[in-house]
Order: sequence, then structure tokens, then C-alpha cells
Amino acid sequence: MCGIVGYIGNKKASPILINGLLRLEYRGYDSAGIATMEDDKIVVMKNKGRVSSLYELEGIDDLKSTMGIAHTRWATHGKPSKENSHPHMDNSNSFAVVHNGIIENYHELKNMLKNEGYKFLSDTDTEVIPNLIHYYYNKDKTDDNNKLLRAVKNACNDLKGSYAIEILSIHNKDKMIVVRKDSPLVIGKGYKENYIASDIPAILSYTKDFYLLDDNEIVELTRDEVKFYNQDLKEIKKQVTSIDWGTASAEKDGYEDFMLKEIFEQPRAIRETVGAKLDNGCIEIEGLDFTKEYLQSVNKIYLVACGTAMHAGLVAKTVFEKLCKIPVEVDIASEFRYRDPLIDEKTLTIYISQSGETADTIAALKLAKSKGAKTLAISNVIGSSITREADYSIYTHAGPEIAVASTKAYTSQVVLLNILGMYFAEKLEIIDKDLMKKLKADILILPSKIEEVLKNTDPICDFAKKVYKEKDMFFLGRGTDYAVSLEGSLKLKEISYIHSESYASGELKHGPIALIENGVTVIATMTNPDLVEKSISNVQEVVTRGAKVLAITSEDIKNDGLNQVIKIPKTNEFISPILSVIPMQLFAYYISKEKGLDVDKPRNLAKSVTVE
Ligand code: G6P
Repeated sequence: MCGIVGYIGNKKASPILINGLLRLEYRGYDSAGIATMEDDKIVVMKNKGRVSSLYELEGIDDLKSTMGIAHTRWATHGKPSKENSHPHMDNSNSFAVVHNGIIENYHELKNMLKNEGYKFLSDTDTEVIPNLIHYYYNKDKTDDNNKLLRAVKNACNDLKGSYAIEILSIHNKDKMIVVRKDSPLVIGKGYKENYIASDIPAILSYTKDFYLLDDNEIVELTRDEVKFYNQDLKEIKKQVTSIDWGTASAEKDGYEDFMLKEIFEQPRAIRETVGAKLDNGCIEIEGLDFTKEYLQSVNKIYLVACGTAMHAGLVAKTVFEKLCKIPVEVDIASEFRYRDPLIDEKTLTIYISQSGETADTIAALKLAKSKGAKTLAISNVIGSSITREADYSIYTHAGPEIAVASTKAYTSQVVLLNILGMYFAEKLEIIDKDLMKKLKADILILPSKIEEVLKNTDPICDFAKKVYKEKDMFFLGRGTDYAVSLEGSLKLKEISYIHSESYASGELKHGPIALIENGVTVIATMTNPDLVEKSISNVQEVVTRGAKVLAITSEDIKNDGLNQVIKIPKTNEFISPILSVIPMQLFAYYISKEKGLDVDKPRNLAKSVTVE
């Protein structure tokens, strides 16, 4: 979860490190720290609180070094405090380490090291790492250039769990070592300088050329060189990947918050995700070459993901089932991986992940692969871990999403899943040509319809001002309107800390209506003309019991008797969630602002959940 940055070059390191951490705060923000190599010693500066609190530290401006490591923390082991924040040093102050991930056997390692006389100053699992490196470094009686590498390798052999680690050592003052296993890490290549980061946006303003690390690779960085080694310390070659995200996409660009900026970026994100896929006769998706025969052999599709990405899967279930006539199950990755799902080589499993680094989603993919199922990853990050594990990978092109609460990634996922469903149906030759034409046209015109929705923010803001003090809210919908309501409810919880529940309207009478009383707020989405009459009856039932209703309907739907209505342009039921989610995103946003909360960095949450 936490964020990592590193630098070795000819510029002063501390501003680069802190700047990088500021861009990574969406990963963790309870404490932060840096370690730089100052002349003959490592200087560690850390503080509890946000990254900006590092500026308050005495001496931070005096750091001169041109190499260092840095970390912003999302606490797992040990409460947020200065002692528990990274970097951590070994007892001899010779090795400084920052770490993302979890060392599962740290108790055992700590006891082993304690028996060897080591002392521990924090409650973290991380502190065993520098001490273990020190232990192996001292045991090694050979004195050659690879001594530090060997110590790191030996220490890693003892670690169980997930890690991305940066190491600074006074024994090699012109070198840094990094290693990864099940936790993301990239190297940014510069001219006579090199960068390290857990996420590309942290160093995007310095370089566009990246080496993407694979599990168990160890990297040695100097100013001029990056050398890669496998687990046996055999040198390996890696290709540079160029990332075409503009720097501005990781900046606020005049918006008050990243979330608002990302909401308004949705027309562009959808345009870029659709790209040229629908331009020629048949749909083409780069990276996919599924045949009719293969798709005919598929007996089930699983859509597996976490959080918002899982909600995108819930919308897409309807698309795949209605257009391809293949049964679809949508699964929460953390459940899927432990429930022994019924999968075999006839199962197609699709994983949706903005970051491509979510631990549970990756584990679910590995499980399905081991059972012979085909795996297809949908991610927003080129070269992310999930895309390197999957048999097939396709991409949303939403650009970097910085706000913890996902917006443009969700709508891009929904549109890409729609196109995927249409692609399957076309290959299977089971879709009516006119229907296909209409669905394609609906997608192509979608960005301008989103622009229309984004012009009408005032009524949503006004409604948010009326209800922001409430403790509970309800979201209702049927069909894909229900699927998108789940996402609306999640947005509200995430950034406004208001408890909310989303229900399929038809379920209302089976329990939740007992909670409806005078003044309760209900957000009702009704965009599907086939279901609207039933939905309106349900809404009337809550109005009768005193609920304040904000209805989100499409322009062709009559809404007699409702006071607060947000109209969205008409489109088909598969993609209407892309339009109807926008008022919900804005609603959550305005409530959060009204309450004076930090929209982009909600409490306790992190953008990428890279641990279980
Ligand atoms: C976290 C984020 C969510 C995200 C989920 C899945 O919980 O806060 O916004 O939807 O992880 O992330 P992924 O990167 O796999 O889509």
C-alpha cells in the first residue's frame, strides 16, 4: 500500500524524493521519511503525518546528497508514529531500508535476530530487513563488489510475504539496491541518473522510460548504470518501456482536487479507451485474437475484481449475458481466491484492476491459471503486475488516476467491458447487425453525452448542501441501475464517511423499507424504460414514508411527482451507468467538500491495496 521513491544522480536528492512522495500520497499518508547518503553516513529524517510534515524537520534543507530513498506509509504493523515510519536502519546504522508489503514471518526472524543480539526500536515487520541484511553482510567473509548484493539476496531468501525494498548502505556509497516480490516497483531511466518508484506517476515528470520489475529480481543502481539480477544473482537484460502519460495528467491542473479533475476528464478517458476499436467494420481490440470456436467452447465467464472495479464487472454482467448468451459470475477477488471456484479450461476468467497491482485480484488470477482457465486482465497501467501474469491483457486509457476514490477508471472499465462483450458477440455471430450498429453508435457519442451531464452540476451541489449532515442514505435501482447504485453508494462512503446502502429496488419490501422514515435521503436511479414503472412505484413507497428523493433518470422518462430530478441523456441500458454514475460521483464529492474533508485522501483508505 505504501509509496516508495528513490533517486541516484547528480541533482540534490531530497527535493526529488519529497516531490515524488507528494505524488504518491494516495498510497498512504500516515507518516513519511527519507534517507540520504551524506558524505560518510546515512541521514534519516522522518515524521508522523502527511508528507509535507517532512518540511518541518530541522536540517531537512541542509541535506546535500545526490542519492536517497523515501517512503510514505499506510500502517500495517505498528501504529502511525515517527518510530514506526520508514526508513528503518539496522543496529550498526550501516543499512537503511524502506519497504512496501508485509513480511509474514517477521516474528520468527525478529526472534532469531534477537538471539543474535539485535535490538528493535519499532513495532514494524520492516525493521527485521536491515538487520537481516547486516547479519548476512557480516557473516560473509569474502570482500568483493557483490557483497552487498549477496547479503540482500540471502536476506530475501528468508523473507516470506510480499515486498518492494530499497536499500542504502554505507558500504557502497555510490550504489543502491532494490528488490521486489509481489509488490510493485519500477525503475525510471535518466541520463546519468536513475529513479525508483512504486508507481509511475511519482517520477513521471523526470522520465518517460521505465524498467518494469518482475518478481524476485534484484537491481543494482549507480548513476550511470542499472543492472538486473535474478534470484541466483545471474545478470539478466530488461527492455525499457516508454510510458506516454503526459506529466499534466498527474497534476491538478487548476482543479481544487484530483477527484474533481478526474470526474471532468471522463469524456477524454472514454474517448481514448474507445480509441479506434470501433472504427472499422468489425471490432478490433489490440492484444486479443479470440476465435469463434474458442468463444463457443467457453461455458462460463468470471469477472473478478475488488472495490470499484468489481462494480464495473457487475454492470458488464448484463452485457455479456444478454449479448453473448454466456453465463457470467461476478466475484470479489478476496472471496474467489478462497472459495475453490468451479473453473476449468472452458472457463474464461476476466480480472479488472485499475492499478493492476491489487494483491487479491492477482492471487485470484494465479489460482484460475493453475486450474487451466484462460485469464484476461483489464488494467489502466501498462506493464502492471496483473498484465504480466495474464494470458491476455487489454487496457483502459484513463491516464493516471490519483484520487483514492475511483471515477474515470470506473467509467473507462465499463466502456471497455462493453466493447469486449460486443467483440465476443460479433465473433460468435449471434448479434443482430442493426443492434450492433446502434450499440457502436451509442458508444461513439457517449463522450459528448458525458460532457452534457457535466454541465449540470448545480442541482447536485444544491442537494448535497441540503443533506450533507445526514448519517445514513439509501441508493435504489433495478438492472444496471442497481449495479451503478452500488458504485454511487461506495463513493459516498469512501469520501464523505456517511453510511449508505444500495438495494435492488425490488428488495426494498423485504427489509430495508423498515429503515425509511421522515427525512431519510434516497438516491433513486431509473434510466431503463423497461423497468421504470416498477422503479417509480418503489420510489413512491419511500416518498409516502417521508423520504427525500434525488432521482436520476434519463430524459425520455416521465417523473411525475418527484421534486429533485437529475436528467441524463438517453442511451442504452449497458452504458447508461456511465452517465448516471456522474451525478453520484459529484454528489459524494460535494458532500465531502461541504463537510470539509480531504476528498482525495480519505481516512484509512489507499489507492492500491497491494497486501491482502
Ligand atoms: C482500492 C481503491 C479502490 C479500487 C480498489 C481496486 O480499494 O481504493 O478505488 O477500486 O482498490 O483497485 P484496482 O486497482 O484493482 O482497480
